[in-house]
Amino acid sequence: MAKIVIDNLSGKEVFIKPQSRSILAALQDERVDWMHACGGKGRCTTCKLIVIKGLEQMSEKTPAETRYYQEGKLLDNERLACQASAWGDLVVRVPEEGKLPHLKYND
Ligand code: FES
Repeated sequence: MAKIVIDNLSGKEVFIKPQSRSILAALQDERVDWMHACGGKGRCTTCKLIVIKGLEQMSEKTPAETRYYQEGKLLDNERLACQASAWGDLVVRVPEEGKLPHLKYND
């Protein structure tokens, strides 16, 4: 079971179960609020996460992510939580534009 550490959310730890469809699903399973304006359909980039460690242990980019990379809306160290999954441990950060007003971020 892979572990996600959310660096700027007080190091919150979330575990990705083998059956988790995506990182967003794993976050929701553990009741971690995460921006996802299009409902996880790959039609926005509000679920973006910054990957600090573990990028090489993540699923291949989906067509939706590839399109956003080509349009310059995702950087090399960014993935969409609703599209990506991982088989190894990750350290991630919530980008400024993905922060929710009711949560306290430490950065
Ligand atoms: S929630 Fe819209 S792209 Fe992920």
